Amino acid sequence: MRLAMSSNDTDTAASVAEDDIIFDLISMIIVYRSGRVERFEPTEFVPPSFDSATGVDSKDVVINSSTSLSVRLYLPASAVAKTDYKLPVLVFFHGGGFCLHRASSLHYHNYLNHLTAKAKFISISVDYRLAPEHPLPVAYYDSWEAFRWVISGRDDWLLRYGDLGKVFIAGDSAGANIVHDLGLRLGRLGKKVEGLVMMNPYFWGNEKIGVELKERSESMFKVSDVEKVWPFICPGTTGNDDPRLNPMAEGAPSLLGLGCHRVLVGVGDKDLLLDRGRLYSEKLKESGWAGEVEFVKVEGDHGFFLAYPGNETAEAFMDRVVSFCNKD
Ligand SMILES: *[C@@H]1O[C@H](CO)[C@@H](O)[C@H](O)[C@H]1NC(C)=O
Ligand SMILES: *[C@@H]1O[C@H](CO)[C@@H](O)[C@H](O)[C@H]1NC(C)=O
Repeated sequence: MRLAMSSNDTDTAASVAEDDIIFDLISMIIVYRSGRVERFEPTEFVPPSFDSATGVDSKDVVINSSTSLSVRLYLPASAVAKTDYKLPVLVFFHGGGFCLHRASSLHYHNYLNHLTAKAKFISISVDYRLAPEHPLPVAYYDSWEAFRWVISGRDDWLLRYGDLGKVFIAGDSAGANIVHDLGLRLGRLGKKVEGLVMMNPYFWGNEKIGVELKERSESMFKVSDVEKVWPFICPGTTGNDDPRLNPMAEGAPSLLGLGCHRVLVGVGDKDLLLDRGRLYSEKLKESGWAGEVEFVKVEGDHGFFLAYPGNETAEAFMDRVVSFCNKD
C-alpha cells in the first residue's frame, strides 16, 4: 500500500534513484542512473599554442563538422626551418579507457610537444569521441576517419612538411587498442604504414594470465576495475573475449594481417595489463607476420611514460620510441 507523500518527498525518492551510481572507474569517471556523467580528470585541458620550451607549434583542426571530430597537429617549427626534407608523420591516440582524457589534456599535450621535438616528426593527436556518450565502435570510426584525413594530406602543414610515405601510428592504453584496430584495417586493404607503437596496450580477456592471477597492491588497477570497463564502453559486445579487446581470443582476426613493417610494444613492470602486451608481441612473432617486433618492459605502472619530462624512466622510454621510429 502506498503511503501519501508530499510532493517534496516524491522528488527526494526519485532523485535518490536517479543518483544511484551505476559505474565508477577508480573515481575518475562516475555515471549515475539518470545518465549524468562526471569526470574527474587528473589534468586540465589546454589550447594549442607555440611551446617555447620545445619549439613546437600546435593547432586544432575540425575534420568533420557534423560530429565535431577534431585533431591537434604538432609541428617542430624550429626543425622545419632548418630542413629541406619532409618529416615523418606520427598519428597519436591518447588513452583513458575510451571514456577519459582528450587530445587537449595537459599531460598528453606536454607529451606530444616533447615527443614531436625529439623525434622531429609532424604529430597528429586525435580527439576521438568518448563513451559512454558515444559508445564503441564510435571511437574506432573516428580514429579511422582521422587517419584517412591525415594521409589525404589536405592540411597545409602536412602538405608542406609531411612525408606521407613514412607514417607511424602510436597510442597508449585504449589508444594502443585503437592502433591495433587501425593496423588490422590497413592490412585488410593491403596497405602498410611504417610502424605501430603500442604503449601499455589495453587488451584483456576472460581467462586471466600472468600478473592478473594475483592481486598486486602496487598496480593502480585491480582486476575487478578492468573487468567492468569494456561492457560499459561497448554495450553491444560479446564480453571480455570480444576480439577487439582480446586479439588473442579464439576466432579473432589473425595478427598476420597487421598492416605495417614494424611494431613496438612497451609496458610497465607494475602495470596490471603488462602480460597482455607481452602476449600480444609473442603471438605476433608466432603468427608468421613478416615484420619486426620489439617488446620493452620498463619500471612503472600504467601511463608511467606521461611523467615526462623529469622522470628518467619516462625519458628513456621516449628515447626508445624515437629510436624505433628513426631506425631505417
Ligand atoms: C562525418 O560524420 C558523419 C556522421 O558520422 C559521417 O556520416 C560522415 O561520413 C563523416 N565524414 C567523413 C568525411 O568521414
Ligand atoms: C620515475 O618513474 C618510476 C616509475 O614510475 C619511479 O619508480 C621512479 O621513482 C620515478 N623517478 C623519479 C626521479 O621521479
